[in-house]
Amino acid sequence: MSSRRQEIASLDAASFRAIAALAYRESGLTLIEEKTPMIQSRLRHRLRDLGLVDFPSYCALIESDQGLDERQHLISALTTNVSHFFREDHHFETLKSELDRCLPKLRAGGQMRIWSAGCSNGQEALSAAITLMEHLPGIADLDVRILATDIDPKVVRFAREGVYPQRLLGGVPAGLIDKYFQQVEAVTDEPHFCAHQRLRSMIRINELNLLAPWPMKKRFEVIFCRNVVIYFDIATQETLWPKFHAALAPEGVLFLGHSERISDPARFGFICTGPTTYRPDTR
Ligand SMILES: C[S@@+](CC[C@H](N)C(=O)[O-])C[C@H]1O[C@@H](n2cnc3c(N)ncnc32)[C@H](O)[C@@H]1O
Repeated sequence: MSSRRQEIASLDAASFRAIAALAYRESGLTLIEEKTPMIQSRLRHRLRDLGLVDFPSYCALIESDQGLDERQHLISALTTNVSHFFREDHHFETLKSELDRCLPKLRAGGQMRIWSAGCSNGQEALSAAITLMEHLPGIADLDVRILATDIDPKVVRFAREGVYPQRLLGGVPAGLIDKYFQQVEAVTDEPHFCAHQRLRSMIRINELNLLAPWPMKKRFEVIFCRNVVIYFDIATQETLWPKFHAALAPEGVLFLGHSERISDPARFGFICTGPTTYRPDTR
């Protein structure tokens, strides 16, 4: 039996345009032509798995009625899922003040809802849970919940499992690793750690495309949508700002990533109250 792998042709311009159009339509991702080599290398694995040798055949599949599953694999391959624990940690300082602000309401039986939108592998939601638990050890007795969502089913599965190789725990202060994670058996030599159940029980993790309707009924006191809209064009971003505004409690706060901005916050009913920190304008 031959072990030779079939050569896969390069990503041609017409296929690039078809893939870019589909990615934009389905997920808001904006692919620029300069990224062709990166896109080609990410998708070659898909072609190989499907036994296809060129991109026009791949495009025919994703554009067909039979292409639903593959369209998901495509979006999964095209999303950038890099995340870190306690990324942009100043937001977690603000999160503590938000908990303080909500405390009287929580102690009177009210709720506090937090959303990690574009949660990737779950580090953002776990960082929020650790921050809250460190700030208020009795938090488990209060109705505080974190929703974590992402379009990519692969990272949603990973986040639900909640098992991290040691190299991904870099941002977690050493004392907190022992306190909130336990080592689990791993198939590789690298130690792996699972977040404690008491953290995980605060978090619900679901698939959600930010461009699709949002099913959540309750408003959020805090929304993290960091390092997500940077992959969208301005037109797509501007469809999201009113949705985030409507999803926020009147006193709530929206955090964006360090290189993301709402360019004209007043137009969308926001005021900027700190670096990449926005609140509904209630004046
Ligand atoms: C770079 S990660 C950011 C993770 C985390 N928020 C952080 O800042 O560390 C971007 C995430 O956004 C997700 N994403 C991209 N387009 C999306 C969409 N249309 N709806 C929901 N999530 C999306 C990707 O799958 C990816 O996991």
